[in-house]
Amino acid sequence: MVQVLSWHENEVWNKHVESVWFPCLDEGSIPSSSTNVVLIGNLTLVRALRPEGQSDFVDDDSLQLHSLITKTMAKQLTPKVSWVGKVDWELTHFHGDELSTFRGSSYNSYLVRDQKVALIDTVWQPYDKEFVSRLKQEIDLQKIDYIVMNHNEIDHSGALPELMREIPNVPIYCTKKGEAIIRGHYHQDWNFVNVKTGDTLSLGENTLTFVEMTMMHWPDSMLTYYDGDGGVVFSNDAFGQHFATESLYNDRVCAAELMYEAEKYYANILNPFSAMVAKKIPQIEAMNLPMNLICPSHGVIWKDNPAQIIEKYKQWCDAYQEDQITIVYDTMWQSTRKMAEAIADGIREVSPQTTVKIMNINRDDKNDALTEMWRSKAVLVGSPTINNGHSFAIAGLLEMASGLKFKNKKAAAFGSYGWGGGAVKQITAKLEEAGFALVNDGLQKLWVPDQSVLSECTEYGRQFAQAL
Ligand code: FEO
Repeated sequence: MVQVLSWHENEVWNKHVESVWFPCLDEGSIPSSSTNVVLIGNLTLVRALRPEGQSDFVDDDSLQLHSLITKTMAKQLTPKVSWVGKVDWELTHFHGDELSTFRGSSYNSYLVRDQKVALIDTVWQPYDKEFVSRLKQEIDLQKIDYIVMNHNEIDHSGALPELMREIPNVPIYCTKKGEAIIRGHYHQDWNFVNVKTGDTLSLGENTLTFVEMTMMHWPDSMLTYYDGDGGVVFSNDAFGQHFATESLYNDRVCAAELMYEAEKYYANILNPFSAMVAKKIPQIEAMNLPMNLICPSHGVIWKDNPAQIIEKYKQWCDAYQEDQITIVYDTMWQSTRKMAEAIADGIREVSPQTTVKIMNINRDDKNDALTEMWRSKAVLVGSPTINNGHSFAIAGLLEMASGLKFKNKKAAAFGSYGWGGGAVKQITAKLEEAGFALVNDGLQKLWVPDQSVLSECTEYGRQFAQAL
């Protein structure tokens, strides 16, 4: 084993230097005693630290080590647990085109090297060969004793076929539903071991305990807890975020960006399953497990105060809302936009402390709009009338909002029209179907609003805010 200094991006060279162990390196590759090796996240530059703290790139003596380091995929989290996943910087959409991922994502896989070795989850299929190839540089695959599949959507199970070609007899621990999903996806008769809540798997010194997380967010979802190294929770999708980072830990990234991505993830993926979240979290808390790290399968690992994300989930699953009203509209010739802005004026007059967000669904991202709606206590949805109904983009938004099953939110519709109208009636009906409590029957105005109509819109905003 070689001791390597790890340095985190956005920090000065001689600060926050941590010692970590990289078992894949052998002693013969240690550089000269005057030279330290420094990892920058996964970029793995090698530099010589001079006594005064200045740094230079290494001399030739260290190239062997440099070469070894750049080949490894692992990031050591604890003495026995390494991250061996894939950061996907290029991902912009997920679940087909259903979910925007503007900050990329990661597919987190973990290697637990106790007396026995367990691999927790794999990565998305396009990265299967890269994953297996780099995993081989981290560990002799024949030394993997167990594979644990916490959830088998393709972003986590996609590399299984490539991996199982190498180690076809290694048992795969998963829920019964997990086995069915893997069989349904890959049509292979691998060595499955079904587990349920409370089942354990000894790794020698320490133990894995399995906790079913049914419908958080698929029927097969489960959490695996490792009781070594202070307690490590492998939570799969729960507590995750689509957030690519080399920094790995929650205290190494912008807190606001991280929390936005965690909220967007919850609002757009987990919100429909909030009842299950509300039931499951007390069960997990009752187990009173020490938690050094919460390791989800997407985004950063919760290292600094890991319980904070559990506290957030407790709030989010309970019909979450802030003092916010979101106005989402579509517009053809700016009339509905003018109505939206005039309505916002009225809300602000009545309730100046309320956050009011105005979003054009054709300019703003649909999932960001849904995240803002999820945060809100009330929403106003506007569209001009097109072919006796509302616009295509508003139809998509309302369909998604219906599926996400927002709770405890009020709503109303508005929009301009030319002759017959129809958009406001249609939006109102769909809001009600989607579970919003209607504040009124909507506001429909003919042609382009003049000052008098805009005043009516402002009054409509006042009355809306007063009704909340
Ligand atoms: Fe990250 Fe449900 O897959």
